[in-house]
Amino acid sequence: MASQVDAIYIFLLVVCGMVALLVFTCLLYFAARYRHRAGVEAEQIDGSTPLELTWSIIPLCVFMVFFAWGAIVFFKQRTPPRDATEVYVVAKQWMWKLEHAEGQREINELHVPVGRDVKLIMTSQDVIHSFYVPVFRMKQDVLPGRYTVAWFRATKPGTYHLFCAEYCGTQHSGMIGSIVVMEPAQYEAWMSGGPAGPLSATGEKIFAELGCSTCHRSDTQGRGPNLQGVFGKPVKLEDGRSVMADENYVRECILDPGAKRVKGFQPIMPTFQGLVSEEQLNALVAYVKSLSAAKPAGTNASAATPETKAKSQVE
Ligand code: CUA
Repeated sequence: MASQVDAIYIFLLVVCGMVALLVFTCLLYFAARYRHRAGVEAEQIDGSTPLELTWSIIPLCVFMVFFAWGAIVFFKQRTPPRDATEVYVVAKQWMWKLEHAEGQREINELHVPVGRDVKLIMTSQDVIHSFYVPVFRMKQDVLPGRYTVAWFRATKPGTYHLFCAEYCGTQHSGMIGSIVVMEPAQYEAWMSGGPAGPLSATGEKIFAELGCSTCHRSDTQGRGPNLQGVFGKPVKLEDGRSVMADENYVRECILDPGAKRVKGFQPIMPTFQGLVSEEQLNALVAYVKSLSAAKPAGTNASAATPETKAKSQVE
């Protein structure tokens, strides 16, 4: 996105510069042309419709270009591609904790392969922070109590600055890190060096430990909704509304089950507020996500590109 954001920025600078130049040129010219001279009377001029239309319509067109161009880039930057690799981010005073969907954990460092879309699902366990990678032209606030999402595709290997861009306490300026962009082969090697299974498998374990599986059964007999294939689809609620089952909805259902209750189910689910950490919540969300049809349970299909899949088949 960086070149597109820069193009808008440069366009704005050039247009503003040209307008400033025009204003100052006219100012100097008129100051000289209509200066006070002995024996010349000033003369009152009334409005001119063609002139007023001109200076209304031309700026309107220029502003509409700003708006349309800005909106196109904004929506592109705000909409993560569907098959992006997912990384969960938990911010706290004063560090970044990152966990790959494949299970690798990192602190203040994020390793990603070059050329792959990476979606960040971010939350904070205390105050508001902001995930800022200047070289990607990417900045997104990270809020306690909900998920915010951002994405990027790194195009050049290297190590890039990560900053916290929201004043979050005494060590705010030290809440920095780096994004390490690697060649795919290098990245695969780095990945295989890690411990752990996929995050969704951790989530499945927590799901069983907390007893979620006794009500959320994978048939229609459970006292809670069957979660197979639910993620990413609209859900009918008891109060007649319909919501999209996204990361924030799953999160809210775990922490405040009564808020958006699924149609046809009793309000018997207890809250898990205070009982699960942000990391456990992320794992549970990753597990529920893995149950949806597009990404079958037990695989990390979200993480593997066609290339790496083909490669592992060859091997
Ligand atoms: Cu975190 Cu500033």
